[in-house]
Amino acid sequence: MNWWETDFVAVRDNRLHIAGSEAAALAERYGTPLYVYSKDRILERYARLDDAFARHSSIPARICYAMKANSHRGILRLLQKRGAWIDAVSPCEVAAALKAGFPAERVLFTGTSISRADLRAVFAIEGLTVNIDAAEQLDLMAEVKAEFPARTIRVSVRWNPGIGRGFNPKAVTAGKRSADGMPIKFGVVSRKVLDVFRRARRLGFRPVGLHQHLGSGWVREDFGMVRTAVDRMVHKARDLERAGFPLEFLDFGGGFGPRYLKSRGVFPVEDYIGYLSKAVARAGLSVKALAIEPGKYLVGDAGVLLLGVEYVKESYGNIFACVDGGTFNTVPRPAIYLTAHHEIVNASRVDGAGKARITVAGNLCETGDVFGRERTMPLPQSGDILAVLCAGAYCRSMASNYNLRQIPREILI
Ligand code: LLP
Repeated sequence: MNWWETDFVAVRDNRLHIAGSEAAALAERYGTPLYVYSKDRILERYARLDDAFARHSSIPARICYAMKANSHRGILRLLQKRGAWIDAVSPCEVAAALKAGFPAERVLFTGTSISRADLRAVFAIEGLTVNIDAAEQLDLMAEVKAEFPARTIRVSVRWNPGIGRGFNPKAVTAGKRSADGMPIKFGVVSRKVLDVFRRARRLGFRPVGLHQHLGSGWVREDFGMVRTAVDRMVHKARDLERAGFPLEFLDFGGGFGPRYLKSRGVFPVEDYIGYLSKAVARAGLSVKALAIEPGKYLVGDAGVLLLGVEYVKESYGNIFACVDGGTFNTVPRPAIYLTAHHEIVNASRVDGAGKARITVAGNLCETGDVFGRERTMPLPQSGDILAVLCAGAYCRSMASNYNLRQIPREILI
């Protein structure tokens, strides 16, 4: 069995099967490029988180789907029916969540560089919680709130605990600077948090929660840093309680990834939920709910992208499988983040003799338009179908029409 095989993607007779159907048959039926998502895989991932909370925490859990990972309507509906909450980051995401059936009470809006128009749109929705990203944001909030004199607006504070971690410097969302020196724009610094709570209350808002999000794509080695950040959050919540701000919820954000790479250990998500549940219980906090915001964990490995090989090209000793899709239009992650890896499987001949080092090249006018670089696989042939794995998160949602190419069709099976 290959390390990447799951109930969703599996090899039979040396051909890739997706949710029981042959990948090549799906490609034939729907055309390529094609995104294929699995309902069962998403529900299985959700159940793991749900079960871990049930085992470890006496405080109710809120599993808030970070819908920026994939806002496919069918996926939203599926998770809504299963009892998920939503992490939304723009008014349009909020609207899509409501349209998919999520009640406003289950939506946390976490914006950044928020405008008056954004605030107007979210304040108009009764029951929604607005997460504050900056002390300075309160001025705008006070101004727009005047347009809604009768409304009690629930707010929480996204703080920056001073440390963060992600699979790439661009995917670190807390701390001072990321590893490549990028100043981190998110959240309220520790020393300003209490003031933001006080001022929010004075302005007539109802402070209900504390939130952090450290970054995206954690692997096993990140667990130590994540535990420290959990401790800091619990400590901060205790300070707030003592200062007269008992919290309804603590939201630890998202970040834990599915397995993108064989060589990286998987983040121990059950241990993490156990750790944070215990930390909150030990501190004796009066919180009513614990929240997490998984994006890629829930949908990452529940999606694949199927591509058709047009021809195989040799140039100065390099061998390219030239496929019928472009990264920016389908799976832009490898073109954006140097460290983003997506396993690529030849669905038509998974294994075999005559292996070569293949660069899977897209159809865009960009040198970096490459799905995978010098991957060892059986030499593809024209007409083969390649499957780009772990294409459920931040692929369709970040795809563009660059070069005026189309964004592919999606099926949820
Ligand atoms: N909560 C907040 C406030 C977030 O900003 C994010 C992601 C999440 C939750 C979900 O994180 P996840 O569980 O999916 O790691 N485009 C990048 C990822 C950027 C994520 C930004 N924030 C990628 O393709 O890897």
